[in-house]
Amino acid sequence: MRATRRVALSMVLLASLAACGGGDVTIPGSTPKTCVDDPTQTKCITTTTPNPDSTLRIVAAKTGRYVGASVDALFGQATYNAVLSKEFSMLVAGNAQKWDAIHPARATFNYARGDAMLAFAQANGMKMRGHTLVWLNSQMPSWLINGGFGADTLAQILKDHITSVVGHYRGTIYAWDVVNESFTGNGAIAASVWSNTLGKGYIETAFRAARAADPAALLFYNDYNLEYNGAKQDSAAALIADFKARGVPIDGIGFQAHFQINADGSGVPDKAALTSVFQRFANLGMKIHLTELDVRIRTTASAAELAAQTKAWSDITGACMAVPACEAIVVWGITDTESWVNATFPGYGSALLFDGSFGKKASYTAVKTAIGG
Ligand code: XIL
Repeated sequence: MRATRRVALSMVLLASLAACGGGDVTIPGSTPKTCVDDPTQTKCITTTTPNPDSTLRIVAAKTGRYVGASVDALFGQATYNAVLSKEFSMLVAGNAQKWDAIHPARATFNYARGDAMLAFAQANGMKMRGHTLVWLNSQMPSWLINGGFGADTLAQILKDHITSVVGHYRGTIYAWDVVNESFTGNGAIAASVWSNTLGKGYIETAFRAARAADPAALLFYNDYNLEYNGAKQDSAAALIADFKARGVPIDGIGFQAHFQINADGSGVPDKAALTSVFQRFANLGMKIHLTELDVRIRTTASAAELAAQTKAWSDITGACMAVPACEAIVVWGITDTESWVNATFPGYGSALLFDGSFGKKASYTAVKTAIGG
C-alpha cells in the first residue's frame, strides 16, 4: 500500500514538474533535499541528449571496433562518399582488388582503383581491408585459368601475385583476406585451378607469402556459411588449429555473413548461437571480422519477415559485441540498390542498412542500438 502511494505521489510530482517545465519543487513545510541526500530526484538526474551526429563508426569506436562497408561502382559519387566517411571506419573494395581487376595480364598490375580507395580511407581515418588474394575460379583472369600451368609455375605465379599486390600496399592495408572460399559445404577442399594443381598446400603457400610481403597486415581466411555449425565450419577450425600448431601465419577468420530471411522468418541463427560460433574461433586465437554482412529478404516480405530481418541485424551485431575478439563488422555495400544480392538472388533484396536514397533503415537502427549507441 505504502509503496503504491509513494509511486502515486511521485507521479503527481513528476506531472507537476512536467507542467511547470521542471526545476526544483519544494513541498510546503519541508526542507528541499540536496542531491547528496537523494540523487534520484529529477533535478539531480543529468540526461544526455542523444547526439544527432552520432554515427555507426562513432558508437563502434567506443567499443574498440570498426564498422566497414564494401565499395564498388558508386565509390566516388559525392553523397555516397559522404555517407561512407561519416558512418564507416573501414572499407573494402567490392571487386577492385580481385585477380581479374588487379592482375589482368601476367605482367600487368592495375592498382589505380584500389589506390584511390586506400587514399580515401587514409584521408578519412578509416582502415582498409584487402579482398582477396586467392579465390577459386571466380573473377580470375583467363590468362591464369586457361594457362595450363604446371605445379611449379603455378605456385610461382601465386607467390608472385601475393608478393606484388601485398608488397604494393605494404604497411597500409589493415587486414587481407588471403584465401577466400576454399571449402565446400561438406568441408572438402573446393575444386579450383589452385587445388587441382597444387593440392590443399596452396592455402599455406598463400599465407606464408602474404606474411613475408607485409608483416604488419593481419591475415584472414574468409568464407561463407561458417556461421552455421557443421562440416564446413569444422574444416575451417581444423585448418586454423593446424596452422597454429605448425607456425603458419594466420590472424583471423572472416565470416562473410551473407544471410537470408526465409518466408517463415527463419534463416539467421540467434544471438546465442552466433556468439558461440564466434567464440569457437576466438578460442583458437583468431580475430573475428564479419566481412561481407548482408541480410536479404523476399522483395514481397511480410511484416513478420521484416521484423525477423531487424531482429537478425540486432542478433548478428550483438553476437559480435559479445566476443571481444570480434573487432569489425563490414557490410557488403551501403545501399540496398547497390547490393550484389539483387542480381544474385532474384526475388530477394533490401539486404543492407540504407535505402537507395541513403535513408537509414530499421536495420541501421538495429545495428547501432546493438553496438550500444
Ligand atoms: C561479389 C561482388 O559484390 C559482385 O559485384 C561481383 O559480381 C561478384 O562478387 N563472396 C565474396 C565477394 O567473397 O567477393 C563477392 O562479391 C560476394 C560473395
